[in-house]
Amino acid sequence: MKEQLEAIRKSALESIAGTQAGADLEALRVKYLGKKGELTAVLKQMGSLSAELRPVMGQMANEVRATVEKAMEEQTAILAEKALEAKLAAETLDVTIPGRPAEIGHKHPMYTALDEFKQIFLNMGFEIFDGPEIEQEDYNFTKLNTPDDHPAREWSDTFYLTEDSRILLRTQTSPMQIRAIEEHGVPIRMISPGRVYRKDEVDATHSPMFHQIEGLVVDKGITMADLKGTLNAVVREIYGPNTQTRFRPHHFPFTEPSCEMDIQCHKCGGKGCPTCKGEGWIEVLGAGMVHPKVLRNCGVDPDEYSGYAFGFGLERLAMGQYKISDLRLIFENDIRFLEQF
Ligand code: PHE
Repeated sequence: MKEQLEAIRKSALESIAGTQAGADLEALRVKYLGKKGELTAVLKQMGSLSAELRPVMGQMANEVRATVEKAMEEQTAILAEKALEAKLAAETLDVTIPGRPAEIGHKHPMYTALDEFKQIFLNMGFEIFDGPEIEQEDYNFTKLNTPDDHPAREWSDTFYLTEDSRILLRTQTSPMQIRAIEEHGVPIRMISPGRVYRKDEVDATHSPMFHQIEGLVVDKGITMADLKGTLNAVVREIYGPNTQTRFRPHHFPFTEPSCEMDIQCHKCGGKGCPTCKGEGWIEVLGAGMVHPKVLRNCGVDPDEYSGYAFGFGLERLAMGQYKISDLRLIFENDIRFLEQF
């Protein structure tokens, strides 16, 4: 029995010294000291010993137990120390490295341009309307006096969402002329900025999604002079007091007469340069006097009321203001580009 106890002590101490983790130690505790452990098994044989040997062996067994328990305690402390060292090594922190500054973003240049634009119109007493990008054919085309065979209605030009062509992604913000009058009634002075969609390939000046700002004024006695005076005042706010404009005749189904407005190139002053493609002038909007049929489609009597409408291209406005040469830069959200503004 003495040899048995010696063997247990030796093997237990060796095993304990070799453990790497707390779980291994626990397993050894069960193996040697547990109810079915090796030491307990030896103690169970005590009954068969002589009365003289029993206390001697009993004392020895107790010593072995105490020795093993002590070794386990010490090993527990050693393992804890090792674990702490490993953790500290893994989580080394160099407090001398400069911190990463939290960068604060800013408004996208296009929205800065839009906000300035809105403010100019708010100062002139216009209201701002918001409208749906998913639109009914009726509002995008029909109520705007656009004939059934108009090329803009082609499936090749417009994103239709239903087979029967009733629902589409609006191709212009002009449906907001109708919606605003329906909602607000006349007289009205409003602008309505938003996204529009056309089946265009992406290049430096085209994108299948872009932004327009619609404008509409309807009241008694509104004339083309009001249109020209207002738009001239607006572009002079944006591009400077000496900005020259010109109005060219054009055609839109929902205005009569219709025109496009150009501004003299702010880069070359009208001499011709790459920005204005050698023209000296840059087209900024389509406009005109609201067609009597459109007024009637909204329940407004064209003999009593008249109005004008216009549609700015917002990207072009921002590109002119910030001298951005490629439309794609506006949508790519490359931080190196945006940081410049
Ligand atoms: N909706 C027209 C376009 O997208 C612009 C426009 C708006 C023209 C209002 C006249 C009046 O080209």
